[in-house]
Amino acid sequence: MGEVITDKDKEYEAAEQAAAAEGEQAVADRVNNRSLRPQSSAFEEFMRSGWADGDPDIAPLEAAKYTPARLEALGKAFPGERIVIPAGQPKVRSNDCDYMFRPDTSFAYYTGLGVDYEAGAVLVLNPLDPDSPQARAGATHTPELFVAPRADNSTTDFFRNAHYGEYWVGPRAGLKEMAAMTGIETHDIAQLADALGKDVGAEAGAVRVRVVRETDPEITAMVEDIRKANGFDDPDRNTADDDKLHEFAAEARMSKDAYEVGEMRKAVDATKAGFDRLLTALPAALDQPRSERVLEGAFNSVSRELGNAVGYDSIIASGPHAPILHWMRNTGVVRNGDLLLVDAGVEVDSLYTADITRTFPTNGKFTDFQKTLYQAVLDSQQAGFEAAKIGATYSDIHHACMRVIAERLHEWGLLPVSVEESLSPEGQHHRRWLACGVAHHLGLDVHDCAQARFEAYQGAPLREGMIFTIEPGLYFREDDLLIPPEYRGIGIRIEDDVLMTADGPEWISAGIPKEIDEVEAWMRDQAAKA
Ligand code: GLY
Ligand code: MN
Ligand code: MN
Repeated sequence: MGEVITDKDKEYEAAEQAAAAEGEQAVADRVNNRSLRPQSSAFEEFMRSGWADGDPDIAPLEAAKYTPARLEALGKAFPGERIVIPAGQPKVRSNDCDYMFRPDTSFAYYTGLGVDYEAGAVLVLNPLDPDSPQARAGATHTPELFVAPRADNSTTDFFRNAHYGEYWVGPRAGLKEMAAMTGIETHDIAQLADALGKDVGAEAGAVRVRVVRETDPEITAMVEDIRKANGFDDPDRNTADDDKLHEFAAEARMSKDAYEVGEMRKAVDATKAGFDRLLTALPAALDQPRSERVLEGAFNSVSRELGNAVGYDSIIASGPHAPILHWMRNTGVVRNGDLLLVDAGVEVDSLYTADITRTFPTNGKFTDFQKTLYQAVLDSQQAGFEAAKIGATYSDIHHACMRVIAERLHEWGLLPVSVEESLSPEGQHHRRWLACGVAHHLGLDVHDCAQARFEAYQGAPLREGMIFTIEPGLYFREDDLLIPPEYRGIGIRIEDDVLMTADGPEWISAGIPKEIDEVEAWMRDQAAKA
């Protein structure tokens, strides 16, 4: 138990520190090459004085009422172990510009923190001494949040550190504020390494450590160093242990609590507002250069006004772009008479996102041919919804959607085999025109719970609190020589978000029109607001 530091370790550590210092120096030099920032101590003194005092406005997060139960379940799954869940680091967009920070999903779930809280922070579940009064009362861990202290106007970093300094980034939440927001005790991030290594060892009664290893390479390296120094030197075993933690966190999110359901409803409402604005912008955008981008701008502006951002890059795919499943370049022209596929979702400040697709006739009226194809997708979606019964298996939704698609393709003479042959595992010919999945869990991640086991996802019985999409489609590529020309260059997807209740499935996006006449009426109403 306890870390044994050898000369080799010291050499390694010194080399690491030298490399880090060199790296920091290189960055500092690069910045200083073009910087005229004053460096004198007189200037420093001047900058540190004469600012009014003031604390940021901080209120407890609504999510803080729900995180204790989540943390308790996590602790119970890993008794006696130290659990490490980093928020992650900013990602470089180019040179010294980062993308907007978005915390890791497991971190957001267990802390309740959303928006851009908080690069570099780490949640630790520290195992309780089994003889402690809290452990005797049934608790397993103490949750601790390690964060950078505020770089307020009492510090030099206030004006020197462009990442944290409040002169640069405005008031930030520090230890006191984070504790008030989350209800979790906070510690200075500078103490993290010591805290992670405490009492770690391979012998009975010593502590083992698991980390969500994909999120922050620096924290993963810190945990690996502690493991190596304390007898856990089997990398495969360590990775497998970490993967189990990630898997647990993904499966824990499968059933949403009341707060999460409320946030998802907000995300869906904001997404409806985004589609409204897009439809108002549509008539003037028709046949204009890069009009897919015009519509993307309309939707995305709402996502920033009402939420944190879009939950994923919006797909604005008109005409022959619509069958391109991941068309996100959105540089095309929205042509009068084509079908326009819009797949977009607002992520609200708590980071829950909607995921909605609608397919519109660009001039406001479906042709009869477009109606036939659209209705097939709508019927497929309804079949998936009807299959979503409590106790049915999640993959039943997939099979129900696929059956309708195969039947219609057969009816139209496009399937080279019978419906049953196509639906058999060896057949699957219909998947040529619907190659993607038709349902996925949804929540903090647009493809939520992705680290869950097969038996906890596709093979799992549907239960109350699950939220998922149902999103069948038909994708007839422009270059598909196996279909008649009139089908080519048409893509249709209809995607809605569903909550499983004790009484069965509920469309939580029921307020976003999708029946043929409703869509046409909605387009008319929104166009009239231009
Ligand atoms: N927008 C991503 C998806 O539908 O899965
Ligand atoms: Mn989806
Ligand atoms: Mn989608």
